[in-house]
Amino acid sequence: MYGMVNKAVEEMVCMHHGEAVWEEIKTRAGVDVDVFLSNESYSDDVTYNLVGAASQVLNVPADAILRSFGEHWVLHTAQEGYGGLMHAAGRTLPEFLRNLPNFHARVSMIFPKLQPPRFQCTDVTETSLKLHYYSHREGLSQFVIGLMQGLGKMFGTPVSIRQLSGREPGGDHEVFEVNWTPKPAAA
Ligand code: HEM
Repeated sequence: MYGMVNKAVEEMVCMHHGEAVWEEIKTRAGVDVDVFLSNESYSDDVTYNLVGAASQVLNVPADAILRSFGEHWVLHTAQEGYGGLMHAAGRTLPEFLRNLPNFHARVSMIFPKLQPPRFQCTDVTETSLKLHYYSHREGLSQFVIGLMQGLGKMFGTPVSIRQLSGREPGGDHEVFEVNWTPKPAAA
């Protein structure tokens, strides 16, 4: 993945636990990189190893780290670094979610070697939809849940998300149900 992902993990850890803990996590992960470059591609192993080591050092399950990272990604990395892209993708949570299938196409213009996830929305109602998540990477469903929670906070819209189905053996597809509380219409 692009270095910006590892940089964001670093930022999240340093924000809550300080630099000494981050150095310990990098050492535990066997990652010998001083400074991650946002525009450079790193092996996915680097990211997975950092999450695994963070789980050990902080004594927090990896799933919880991935959920926190999803929230951090939306509320800090995306909003602070790519506010324009985020604003353009929707003014409300449901609008943003409906535009999610096209979102990374725009991101790919900035990061041409991106290997993005794919999203599809079905069963759309006033207060819910099914989000289909496709990826060649494994083990990131809790990251997706954290991203949804972050989007709910970003829009000030209470949201709940539950996984409806996991992957078939050898598959690349997971399904989530996202429910939200509609905002009262502006007076
Ligand atoms: C402007 C904001 C965003 C940027 C710049 C961005 C960029 C990226 C980058 C660089 C990666 C790593 C993939 C690679 O390097 O090949 C990635 C992965 C991912 N992104 Fe985004 N992203 C953004 C917003 C979002 C949002 C809003 C969501 C969903 C709500 C999302 C969902 C994901 C997921 C699930 C992955 C994991 C990759 C996988 O499943 O294979 N991203 N994104």
